[in-house]
Amino acid sequence: MTALATPRLTDKVVYDYWQRKGADMGTDPGATIRDQHYRNLETDAILRMIESDDTVLDIGCGNGLTTMRYASQAKRVVGIDYAPNMISAAEERAASGNASLSAKVTFQVEDARRLPFEDERFSKVIMQRCLINIPNPAQQIDAAREAGRVLQGGGLFLLAEVTQDGHDRVNMFREMFGLDKLKVHWHNTYLDETSFRDAIAGVFEVVDVVRFGMYGFLSKVVHPLLVQPDEPAFDAPFNELAARIARKIPDFEACSHQVLFVLRKKKH
Ligand SMILES: C[S@@+](CC[C@H](N)C(=O)[O-])C[C@H]1O[C@@H](n2cnc3c(N)ncnc32)[C@H](O)[C@@H]1O
Repeated sequence: MTALATPRLTDKVVYDYWQRKGADMGTDPGATIRDQHYRNLETDAILRMIESDDTVLDIGCGNGLTTMRYASQAKRVVGIDYAPNMISAAEERAASGNASLSAKVTFQVEDARRLPFEDERFSKVIMQRCLINIPNPAQQIDAAREAGRVLQGGGLFLLAEVTQDGHDRVNMFREMFGLDKLKVHWHNTYLDETSFRDAIAGVFEVVDVVRFGMYGFLSKVVHPLLVQPDEPAFDAPFNELAARIARKIPDFEACSHQVLFVLRKKKH
């Protein structure tokens, strides 16, 4: 009997995945991340760094849920995504919302690796879990540098991604308590923190690395232990409590597969 080959992870299969998500789920918050408590923690951390005179680029904006939140605080926001179905959903969201907010936002179908904007056009650039959908580490770095190209010198690149280091750390705690290891999502390629930081060092200085270890420990270790053998629900009251605690005490033992890199573009 011949073993079935694992399908090769290519750009096309990931693109098709996001196109299907956009078509099937539209403006549903769950289209781009299942855990809304986590999304809010991460987005609130980013919002604290957005100012009223900022011109923001949101790369890999999905169906525009968080883009609209940034628009409530910035001067202007451009959201781009390579999946046309995601951009249609984002435009639908903007059209059905508050008109003065929508007037501050534009959505465009674009690829993170080839942005159509001139150099230094934006004062802040945001990217939430977009790089991990680029299956080639060299292209992930190209996309980060491209974000740097369109960012003003001294401006912040707020990059929230999943790292292999963070993922391994969550699994270390899970194993410690007899839980199965979490798998890498099939369509994702997690960042290696050391090589990623080395590769972008010419463009960015690292201002901060925000880890959501308290929420990670409570939601990915304590919660599963409480409900095993069932799977914990993302929207369970326990995760709401975990998020409340994490707002007061954000990190615990770096037990978070998600990491927010606060990067400042170097002035040359
Ligand atoms: C996990 S979702 C995150 C969406 C949004 N940032 C959020 O936090 O809700 C990743 C998004 O990145 C988009 N994406 C992946 N690769 C991309 C690329 N090379 N260029 C532009 N968008 C991309 C996908 O279509 C998808 O909408």
